Amino acid sequence: MRNYTPFDQIVMNADTALRTLFGQPILTHREYPADDISDADFSEQDKKRISGLMRVNHCGEVSAQALYQGQALTSKNREVKEKLQQAALEENDHLQWTKNRLDELDSHTSLLNPLWYGGSFAIGAFAGAVGDKWNLGFLAETEHQVVKHLESHLDKLPGGDLRSRAILEQMKIDELKHATTAIEHGAAELPPPVKTLMAAMSKVMTSSAYYV
Ligand SMILES: [Fe+2]
Ligand SMILES: [Fe+2]
Repeated sequence: MRNYTPFDQIVMNADTALRTLFGQPILTHREYPADDISDADFSEQDKKRISGLMRVNHCGEVSAQALYQGQALTSKNREVKEKLQQAALEENDHLQWTKNRLDELDSHTSLLNPLWYGGSFAIGAFAGAVGDKWNLGFLAETEHQVVKHLESHLDKLPGGDLRSRAILEQMKIDELKHATTAIEHGAAELPPPVKTLMAAMSKVMTSSAYYV
């Protein structure tokens, strides 16, 4: 990994933010998990429900991307930075997959995404600055909360929606892997009040993104 000047970093972070929010993210080119699965004929009500859930997941991926970028920016450890960048690439796949699904359902991404990107980037940068074990602890806890949240969405999806299901199942596998990588690299267990605060914030985000 080469050393970047602060100016390079500002440009790269701005590029990632714009790609995440409005453009085409850089992908790992894995297969879209819903490929080869045919879509069901949903009622308007089911379509609305699935769109709401997928919009929440897309918004979560926007935040994940911002967190990782913020964490990688301020982390001092080269190996941790590399792991964060790899995980961020996989989050881009998730971002694209959930966006694809919303397009298939003739729906839209959350209007509040820029707000969540900014907030999550700041939180990530703070976590990166407080030291590697806390940075990784924050990452592991985020991913564990995302896994729980994906499990709840898998329960809420209408039974016939096998395309969304395939996407969320693959995301769950990836998020668990991100958590395990963080733990293997020395993640500290976060204090319970921090975990509670994180869960409360994500609740605000998921409740609003379902509708707007
Ligand atoms: Fe993700
Ligand atoms: Fe992840």
